[in-house]
Amino acid sequence: MSEITLEAVNLTKKFDRKIIFENLSFRLTEGSSAAITGRNGSGKSTLIKIIANLLSQTSGSLKLQLNGSNTKKEHLFRHIGFVSPYLNLYDEFSGYENLKLVADIRGGGHENVDTVLKRVGLFERRNDMLKIYSSGMKQRLKIAFSIMHNPDILLLDEPTSNLDTEGIGVVDKIAEEYKKDRILIIATNDEHEKSLCSIEINLNKNV
Ligand SMILES: Nc1ncnc2c1ncn2[C@@H]1O[C@H](COP(=O)(O)OP(=O)(O)O)[C@@H](O)[C@H]1O
Ligand SMILES: [Mg+2]
Repeated sequence: MSEITLEAVNLTKKFDRKIIFENLSFRLTEGSSAAITGRNGSGKSTLIKIIANLLSQTSGSLKLQLNGSNTKKEHLFRHIGFVSPYLNLYDEFSGYENLKLVADIRGGGHENVDTVLKRVGLFERRNDMLKIYSSGMKQRLKIAFSIMHNPDILLLDEPTSNLDTEGIGVVDKIAEEYKKDRILIIATNDEHEKSLCSIEINLNKNV
C-alpha cells in the first residue's frame, strides 16, 4: 500500500480579476474521500481541474506526495484519474478504440482495456462507434478512462450525471474501492454523491 498525501495551501484562483476561491487549504491522505460542494459557478470544476493539473492556480501551492516524495507536475497524469463533463471523446471511434488511444497516450499497455469495459458494463458494446452511444454510455466510458491506469487519486466531477441505477451502482463500487486506500474527490451537489465522501470542502464560504 502506498502513502499518498495531497496538500493544498492557500490555493487561490482568479479568472482575470474575478476571485473564484481564495486561500483554500486542505490535506488529504490515503483512505480519505472529499466532496467539493458549492453553488453553481462556485469553482468546483475549476478546483478539480487544478488538482488534475489541467489548469493552474493563481497562487498557493498544491503538492502530491507518494511514499514521501513529491510527484513532478509532468508525471501527475500517471497518478490521477479524472472524470468530467469537459472530457472529450472521439465520436468516430469505438469505445474500445477510444480506450486504447488513451492507454497509448499515457504510455501504458492495453491489458486493462477489456477489464475496465466489463467493469462499467460496456464490453458488449465495445465495438460500436461513440456517435451511437447514449449519454449514459459515454459517461460510463469516461469512468472506464479514469480507472484504466489504476490511479492513486480519483477525481470525479458530477460522476453520476446521465447514469441509470445500474450505472450509479458502478460509480458507487468504484468510489468504495478508491476511498479505502487511495484518495477520492467528488465535485458535486448531489446528495447521493456527497454521501460517498467522508469530508466536505464547501466553496460557498470561501470568497
Ligand atoms: N476559462 C474560464 N475563463 C473565465 N471564467 C471561467 C473559466 N472557467 C470557469 N470560469 C468561471 O469560474 C466560475 C467557476 O466555474 P466552475 O468551476 O465551472 O463552477 P462549478 O463547477 O462550481 O459550477 C464561474 O463563474 C465560471 O464562469
Ligand atoms: Mg462544475
